[in-house]
Amino acid sequence: MDLNSILTETEQKLAAMGANSEREFAALKTYLFGKSGVLTELMKSLKDLPPDKKPQAGKAINDLRVKLNAMCDEKEKQLHRLAIDAALNADGIDLSIDKPEHAVGCKHPVSVVRKKLTDYFVGNGYIVYDSPEIETDYYNFQALNVPPDHPARDMQDTFFINEGILLRTQTSAGQIRLMEKFKPPIKMICPGRVFRNDDDSTHSPVFHQMEGLVIDKNVTLCDLKGALDSFAKFMFGEQTQVRFRPSYFPFTEPSVEVDVSCFNCGGAGCRVCKNTGWIEILGAGMVNRKVLAGCGIDPDEYRGFAFGMGLDRITMILGEINDIKLLWENDVRFLHMFK
Ligand code: DAH
Repeated sequence: MDLNSILTETEQKLAAMGANSEREFAALKTYLFGKSGVLTELMKSLKDLPPDKKPQAGKAINDLRVKLNAMCDEKEKQLHRLAIDAALNADGIDLSIDKPEHAVGCKHPVSVVRKKLTDYFVGNGYIVYDSPEIETDYYNFQALNVPPDHPARDMQDTFFINEGILLRTQTSAGQIRLMEKFKPPIKMICPGRVFRNDDDSTHSPVFHQMEGLVIDKNVTLCDLKGALDSFAKFMFGEQTQVRFRPSYFPFTEPSVEVDVSCFNCGGAGCRVCKNTGWIEILGAGMVNRKVLAGCGIDPDEYRGFAFGMGLDRITMILGEINDIKLLWENDVRFLHMFK
C-alpha cells in the first residue's frame, strides 16, 4: 500500500466532513487505527520484507501514524466546536422574549409616615433621638411621674422582663434619657417601637410612636398649639383645624388630647371620622415641673411641651385601614397599594 496515498486520501475524507459527521469520523478512525485497520495491516506486512528493508519501512509507517493522529485530533476538535455552535443555534435564545418582571419592593406604609413626620420635624429644628426598647421601670414610669402604685399604669399593660426591667410602653421614656444628657434649649423627636399587652383590630402588642419634646425659657401652651397646628396642616392639608381637649397624663400639666378636623369630609362627618368631624391624633401637654426637676432642669427657669403620637394609628387613618394586623402581615399586595 502506498503510504502517501493513504495520507492524501485521509486528508480529503477529513476535509469533506462538516457538522454532524461524528459517525463518519468514527468509522474513518476505525478504518485507520482499528484492530484490522490500515496501520495494523501495514505493520503485519513488515514481516514479509527482507530484514534490511524492515527498519526503514517501520519508521515510515510510524511517521504516517503520527501524522494521521495529528490530523484526526485536529478534526475532532473542529467537530466538537461545530457541535457546540449547532446546539447554541438550535436553542434559539430570544433576547426579546417577555419574562415576568423582577418584583420591586416598596417602603412599608408606617415607614413612609415615620419618614414624612421625621423630615417635617427635622426641617423645623428638632433632633432625632433614639432611645432603648428595653427600658427600666424608672425611665418608662417613675421619672415620668408614674410611681409604682399609680393607677395610670393600668392604661399601659406592660411586658415585664423581670423586676424593674420592661419593654418600653411609650417613647416618652426617651424624654427623660435625653434631658439627663442634654440641657435646654431642647427640641427633639424620638420615634420608635413600643410594646403593650394589647391585641385587637386597632391594637397590636408592638406598635410605633413618635415623641416630641421642646424645652426652653418662656415656652407656653400657645407654642404647643402653634407647633401642632402647622404640623397638622403639613400632614393632613392646609385647611386642617386643630382642637385641644383637656385630658390627663402624669408627665404633663396641663394635658390635652389633640384632634384634627377630618381631612376626608372637612368636618361634615364621614366614615373616616366616625361621623364626628374630628380625628384624635395625639396626646400632649406642658411638661410637668416634677419631671423637669427630676432631670436636673430648674422648672422656674425652663418650661416645655411634649407630645406623643401613634404612627400606626396615623397610617391607618390616612390609608383608611381598619385592621392593624394588615400592617404586620406584610402581604405584598397590600403593601403595594400604598406605594
Ligand atoms: N406617652 C403617651 C401614651 O403612650 C402619649 C403622650 C401623651 C406623650 C402626652 C406625651 C404627652 O409626650 O405629652 O399614651
